[in-house]
Amino acid sequence: MTQPRIAIILSTTRATRFADIPARWLLDHAGARGDMDVELLDLRDYPMPFFDEAASNAWVPSQDEIAQAWQRKVAGYDGYIFVTAEYNRSIPAVLKNALDYAYPEWNRKPAAFLGYGSVGGARAVEQLRLICVELQMAPTRNGVHLQGADFLAAWQQGKPLEEFPYLAPNAATMLDELHWWATALSRARAETA
Ligand SMILES: Cc1cc2nc3c(=O)[nH]c(=O)nc-3n(C[C@H](O)[C@H](O)[C@H](O)COP(=O)(O)O)c2cc1C
Repeated sequence: MTQPRIAIILSTTRATRFADIPARWLLDHAGARGDMDVELLDLRDYPMPFFDEAASNAWVPSQDEIAQAWQRKVAGYDGYIFVTAEYNRSIPAVLKNALDYAYPEWNRKPAAFLGYGSVGGARAVEQLRLICVELQMAPTRNGVHLQGADFLAAWQQGKPLEEFPYLAPNAATMLDELHWWATALSRARAETA
């Protein structure tokens, strides 16, 4: 069987975002394993309007061309890692819009999470897990959370993520779990196709 294809989704798009730092750090860790094909998927590259279709693409094909490109891109992966901030205790609106713009493409695939913020993005990640259930995904248990004073040091003072000793073991556990689910569900999708 081929290696699972995993997208690390950058879930914020503002010009001075922090998201690139944890996303690239995670890409390095995931790529070094050698057991998954992993790449960054940046919402900046898919500037979709606020959802303006007749229905979810579960029911009616989308008209917007960027949305169609987004759906094709999402369809190509076996699993996803959402690298997300917390905006007013929830996920960034641009991420919710991107989630709404696909449906069958997310189905029966695992979702893992790296959150950052005052409480490690935990409130956003918990809401994101619920959204993933509606998208018929398998949200995984172990997340990576950059929080509190550590988040402030990384965000505002540029402290490298390698200097937080708990993050790499957390990422390893998260990636182990994601790999198991991505492999199992990929096989199951193929058997029931
Ligand atoms: C609109 C907005 C709302 C925010 N709300 C929260 C919040 O609820 N919890 C939190 O920990 N940080 C919050 N923050 C601070 C973010 O954690 C911080 O700005 C972070 O850098 C945002 O991620 P980004 O740089 O990738 O956009 C908020 C930031 C913005 C712009």
